Amino acid sequence: MPEAEPTALSASYLASRDEVERVLLLYSGGLDTSVMCKWIQDEYGAEVVALTVNLGQPGEDYDVVRQKALDLGAVAAEVVDAREEFARDFIVPAIKANAVYGLGYPLFTALGRPLIAKIAVEQARIHGCDTIAHGCTGKGNDQVRIEGTVATLAPELKVIAPVREWQMGREEEIAYAREHGIPIKGGAEQTPYSIDDNLWGRSSEGRWIEELDRAPEQDVFQLVTPPALAPDEPEMVEVEFEKGVPVALNGERMGLVDLLEKAAQIGARHGVGIIDHIEDRIVGLKVRDIYEVPAAAIILPAHAELERLTGTIHQNRFKEGLDRQWAYLVYAGLWWEPLRVNLDAFMDSANETATGTIGVECFKGVARVVTRSSPYAVYDASLATFETSGGLFSQNASPGFIELWSLQSRMAYRLRESLEEGQDG
Ligand code: ARG
Repeated sequence: MPEAEPTALSASYLASRDEVERVLLLYSGGLDTSVMCKWIQDEYGAEVVALTVNLGQPGEDYDVVRQKALDLGAVAAEVVDAREEFARDFIVPAIKANAVYGLGYPLFTALGRPLIAKIAVEQARIHGCDTIAHGCTGKGNDQVRIEGTVATLAPELKVIAPVREWQMGREEEIAYAREHGIPIKGGAEQTPYSIDDNLWGRSSEGRWIEELDRAPEQDVFQLVTPPALAPDEPEMVEVEFEKGVPVALNGERMGLVDLLEKAAQIGARHGVGIIDHIEDRIVGLKVRDIYEVPAAAIILPAHAELERLTGTIHQNRFKEGLDRQWAYLVYAGLWWEPLRVNLDAFMDSANETATGTIGVECFKGVARVVTRSSPYAVYDASLATFETSGGLFSQNASPGFIELWSLQSRMAYRLRESLEEGQDG
C-alpha cells in the first residue's frame, strides 16, 4: 500500500495558503476579526466577504459593523438577521430539553455557533467563497462548534482560523491595527473582557475572571442590574406555554423574539440570572465564565416546573437523563449529530402536554416559581389534601404498600446484620 502523503495540515478541512482565493469571514466588528479582515487580504492575497449574523446581540449597530468591514477592504459585507430562526429552531428545543450544562450554563453560545456556521456556509456558496474564516482561538469550544458544522454541512469548503495560527498577542494586534488604520473601540489601554452574547444570554471571560479567588467586579455586568441595586418591589411574570413553547408573557401573546427580549428586560431589571461558572470545556481546560442570562433564568425554571406538573413520575425521572444528554451533545459541538435529532423527537413528544401558565416572582436576584396551572396537571387537590381519605386514594391501602415496597430492602438489611453478628461471635 502506498504511504499517505505527509501533510503539514492537521485536518483535511483546513486550507493551505495556495488554495485560498475568496474567504467568507465571520465578522463581529471587534479587534480580532477586524485585524483578520486585513490580514487575510495581505497574507493570503485573497478576497474577503464579511458576514455578521444578528442573533439578538443587545445594542449592536449592524450598519456600523457592515461599513467597518467595507472600509477594511471587504469586497462585500452581509448582515443576516437570524433571530427568528435562532429562537424557533435552537432556543425552543433547548427550552423543551431544559438545557443547562454544568451547574447552570444555558448554552446560548453553544446554540448560536452551529447556526452562525450554517449561515456562513450558505453565504460562502452564494458569494463563491472557497474558505470560511473565524476568529476563535485554539483553546475554546467555539472552534469545535464552527469547524464541526462547516465540515459536516459543506465538505467542499475549507477553513482557516487565523487567531489560532498568527501568534500575535494583544499588543501586536493593536500595533497591527494602528499600522493598517483599523479603528480600535473602547481604548487600547485596558484588555477588554471576551464577550459573546445573543438573545439567550451573555458571557464574559478573561481579565480577573481567570483568578478563581476573586469575586466579580461590577463592571463586568452590562446586562443584569446588580441584585443589591434592583427594585425593592418584587415583580411577577406569568409565562404561558403551549406544548413546551413560550407563547405569552403576563397574558399578552407575542412572537418568540419579542417574548425572549421582554423576559430578558424584566429579569435584568431585577438582577436575575447572574451565574459565576466553572466549566469543563470539551478541549480539556477548566475555565471560569461570568454569565448573564436574565431570560433563561425566568423561562427555564418555569418550563421545568410545568413539566414536573404534567409529566408522570416515570416520565419526569426518565427525561432528566435525556435532558442532560441533549445539553452535553449541544455543548460539545455536535448539533448535527443524529442522536440530537432523535432526542428532539422525544422532547417534542414529552412536551405534548407542557401547556399551561407558570408564575415566576423576580426579586433582587432571585427568580422563584410561585404559581402553576395546567389543564394537563397530573394533580388532584382533593387527593393531595391531608383532610380526607377515599375515592382513588385510600389511606388504608398505604401500610400494605409499605410492606411490599420495603420488602427486599428489609430482607437485605437483616441478612447483613445477621452475617456481621456471626463474624463478630
Ligand atoms: N464557555 C461558554 C461555551 O463554551 C461560552 C463561550 C463564549 N465564547 C466566547 N468566544 N467568548 O459555550
